[in-house]
Amino acid sequence: MSIKIKIENLSKTFKVSKKTLEVLDNINIEVHENQFVSLIGPSGCGKSTVLRILAGLEKDFSGNITVNGESIKASSFQFGYMPQKDLLMPWRTVYENIILPLEISGKKDRSKKIEVENLIKEFGLQGFENFYPSEISGGMKQRAGILRTFLMNSDTMLLDEPFGALDAITRIKMQEWLLKVLIEHKKTVLFITHDIEEAIFLSDRVYVLSDRPAHVIKTLDIAFPRPRNREMLSSREFLEYKDILLKGLL
Ligand SMILES: Nc1ncnc2c1ncn2[C@@H]1O[C@H](COP(=O)(O)OP(=O)(O)O)[C@@H](O)[C@H]1O
Ligand SMILES: [Mg+2]
Repeated sequence: MSIKIKIENLSKTFKVSKKTLEVLDNINIEVHENQFVSLIGPSGCGKSTVLRILAGLEKDFSGNITVNGESIKASSFQFGYMPQKDLLMPWRTVYENIILPLEISGKKDRSKKIEVENLIKEFGLQGFENFYPSEISGGMKQRAGILRTFLMNSDTMLLDEPFGALDAITRIKMQEWLLKVLIEHKKTVLFITHDIEEAIFLSDRVYVLSDRPAHVIKTLDIAFPRPRNREMLSSREFLEYKDILLKGLL
């Protein structure tokens, strides 16, 4: 399988009131095409910063990053990026927020509209299309954000704790949806979560990051076949994976 994203020796510092804050320390991450890769690590260690750098929002870093073999600094590749904060536009309705990528790409034809309507149902957002972000729950905003990211139609999605605000049941539904999307649309995903079980259940590979400045302390390949099913969650292998990741984090 070809390498989609290659991050080599990535380091990053921020200047905060004349002091230097070291955030990323020599990070190496590889994401292959059609792979689902998760990053887990303590809060504040630099996970979101990795995604922001990939999304082109932080341009000042050291190290080498390629997408499809091309340096990210020269590449025009567009990721489907979902930031940790949903960033829905408060002046647009839920529906207008969701279809923003279609407006930008000029793909608002009839068949797309029907697809969007079906997705809105699948995401449990029907009836709320004309609400404004301030009028819906955190979980709903997150689902609208995921849907919008999907409609960006990139083959690679960067998802920053997309399920963090969801209740357990909705979270399971969204995990199932994401797994289905992976298979049907052949997506590559780089995913941040603080939920170890979620990382194992969804991923082909999990990177464990240390406290800030973050470096990779563990790389774990998850050998479960796809499609995944929830029975795996109570298997012996699953518990072994969980144990390995917990030991990495503690
Ligand atoms: N633009 C910024 N300027 C200064 N410090 C920042 C900036 N963005 C993030 N940081 C700091 O970098 C560290 C890592 O942040 P972040 O990547 O959001 O962590 P995580 O997503 O793992 O919780 C934190 O200490 C945060 O305060
Ligand atoms: Mg974060």
